Amino acid sequence: MNNDKKNTSERDSSTISVWQEGLERPAANPGQPADQTIYDVLIVGAGLTGITTALMLQHAGKQCILIEGNTIGYGTTGGTSAHLNTFFDATYPEIDQDFGTDASRLVAEGGKEAFSLISAFVNKYNIDCDLEYKDAYLFSENEKESKQLADILKASKNAGIAVDEANENGVPISFDQAILFKDQGQFHPLKYGYALVEAFKSAGGKVLENTFIDKATYEDDVHTVWSGDTLLKGKNLIYATHIPPGINILSLRCAPYRSYVLGIKLKDEAYPDALSYDMQEPYHYFRSHVIEGQRYLILGGEDHKTGHDDPEMAFNNLEAYARKHFKVDAVTYKWSAQYYVPADGLPYIGIHPQGNEHTFIATGFNGNGMMFGTLSAKIICDLILGNESKYAKLFSPSRIKPIAGFMDFVKENADVAYHFVADRFSAKEIESLTEIKAGEGQIIEYKDQKLAVYKDSSGKISALDPVCTHAGCIVKFNTSEKSWDCPCHGGRFSIDGKVLNGPPTQDLKAYDLTTLK
Ligand code: FES
Repeated sequence: MNNDKKNTSERDSSTISVWQEGLERPAANPGQPADQTIYDVLIVGAGLTGITTALMLQHAGKQCILIEGNTIGYGTTGGTSAHLNTFFDATYPEIDQDFGTDASRLVAEGGKEAFSLISAFVNKYNIDCDLEYKDAYLFSENEKESKQLADILKASKNAGIAVDEANENGVPISFDQAILFKDQGQFHPLKYGYALVEAFKSAGGKVLENTFIDKATYEDDVHTVWSGDTLLKGKNLIYATHIPPGINILSLRCAPYRSYVLGIKLKDEAYPDALSYDMQEPYHYFRSHVIEGQRYLILGGEDHKTGHDDPEMAFNNLEAYARKHFKVDAVTYKWSAQYYVPADGLPYIGIHPQGNEHTFIATGFNGNGMMFGTLSAKIICDLILGNESKYAKLFSPSRIKPIAGFMDFVKENADVAYHFVADRFSAKEIESLTEIKAGEGQIIEYKDQKLAVYKDSSGKISALDPVCTHAGCIVKFNTSEKSWDCPCHGGRFSIDGKVLNGPPTQDLKAYDLTTLK
């Protein structure tokens, strides 16, 4: 493990992903508190979605500014496993059933178009981002999964995807049935994203880092956003931040999840050359990547809702799974990243349902952020430029699907409602400060007050108000990432209380323990 190493690529976590190794992020522009420009487009969030959208709009003649609350690629883009697929977490049989076969064909076209866009950018800007076309295997391990696999094969073919039966699965794991998707891919997400930022800057775009937007208004056809004293104005506003800030319908339509990834050195050369996926719940995914001359097995899985299960256990389970199937020499990297599962399976891309026609969002990508983030750039670009978009209706954030995903929607809301009530009003076990181990955090009751308490390696204790500043749920400590995670809508805070992941826009309040009487 080399998670203590300093790296100029930063992430919303105390762990370091394989992508951060040896990489310097591009320089941002200096902030100008008195910037009087009315930009054509304000893009909030410099992950893959925001970066790609900014570049495309700037090239289309719009004056854009990309505004990042932390540093470029700080969120999920720096922690993805960077698969490029034209099949998705919402399978084609599920899309057929919930949206119809025409929708499946459109989703398939969207996947192919996103891949073409990535590949065109790589060629146009000569980006050295390890882009490789790969075969991808999906395999079953029991009769029930094999039945599902047969349905996936049929519906995927029907949607126009190149897929067929296979007699191998790409990994040393026994299987029942397998299918092979052609023309899939992988790349290095930060090398790619950073190169797009450079292209955006060369085209005249501006990039601000450490500019966390905490307030936004829309008056006289102009958006104004604030970050402390810095104020920026624009005719259009895009939230490429997963969930837009504030309490809104997207918080209820998307459930936050964390996925866990290991970068593993093997004792032999059994590194997968293809992409592979099993069909367990949650599924495991496998690929390999060469970083600074060393090949790593990239193994992911053990996903769970943010702030619910134990991240340490997820890493342990993943490592045990790796050791069962591979000859592990060393687990060199381990990290996790956040993604959002949409209520009805498809992402929400387009006009903000509670905003105006000049406010846009892109979220609910499930585990397919590289593809849907790129497709979002295409869709939002077309909407802003006034072009016809064949995808706009299907992915509209205002769509109402009373049947598709309805039960999940109810379940997610029930879960959120439970946390609203239970976290605020139930009595928690009272812990004494001395029982907290170094490097750990706990919610405790201290003199009738609920506190989020963290003890650092030197034994120093810090305390925060554990009430999430978004909608009042109680945060939970994430031992692996050293963060406070909210179980309701996935807001995350550093051990100092600083917002790491929206939708909260305000930090947790810090307490001085000596003043608590
Ligand atoms: Fe919504 Fe915390 S993220 S209450």
